[in-house]
Amino acid sequence: MAKLEVCLSILYVPLILNTFLFYSVVTATYYESISPTLLRSHEKLTHLRFYFHEIITGPNPSLIVIDPPKVVANSPLPFGSMVVIEDPLTLGPELDSKRIGKVQGFYLSNTQREGIELEIVMGMALHFLEGEFNGSTLSVLGRNQIINEVRELPIIGGTGAFRFARGYILARTVKVDYLKGDATCEYNVYVYHYPSTTSSSHHQNFDEGLQFMTDPILNKI
Ligand SMILES: *[C@@H]1O[C@H](CO)[C@@H](O)[C@H](O)[C@H]1NC(C)=O
Repeated sequence: MAKLEVCLSILYVPLILNTFLFYSVVTATYYESISPTLLRSHEKLTHLRFYFHEIITGPNPSLIVIDPPKVVANSPLPFGSMVVIEDPLTLGPELDSKRIGKVQGFYLSNTQREGIELEIVMGMALHFLEGEFNGSTLSVLGRNQIINEVRELPIIGGTGAFRFARGYILARTVKVDYLKGDATCEYNVYVYHYPSTTSSSHHQNFDEGLQFMTDPILNKI
């Protein structure tokens, strides 16, 4: 009988150890499910309208063309060109109207076809600096065929008041100075988002992940 107990306990040791290890691994995760009610607010649909200015001329151009590709193409922006922008966003169509933010980003010329019918892909962050959305950003990435009267760009995310943002922008050119190249576009933004800007404590709930790294038993394996 005593022998049997010894045998059993020998069998149990790895079993207990396994269970313990398994338990440690299971609790020491780097992820958790959280209730969407933690957002403490409801999804909201917001429409914003503002104007986007590209200023090519003057002492401080708001865009620069990065190393144009070495191709001879009859196009103002040959295939492969990259443009970096930091453009002002204003309340009205005039450049000197109230500034409500800026846009930082890039665009790439993505067609091999020649001519002035540019096809670009734009990636940008709209950064608001006024009112309810001061400090919040919207991320935009999509195709823009400039020759079209109205272009649609997808909103793929956001920060601050625009967390979980999704939506689209309708962009319309309202003014182009063909001599200088300066242009103004009207942006109508339709965005679903959660207006709450409170950051919840659940961001700091991952102490167990640190224990996972320093777990004395796991270190011995
Ligand atoms: C926007 O937020 C910044 C940083 O918090 C602050 O300094 C600035 O005064 C705010 N602007 C407006 C117009 O509220």
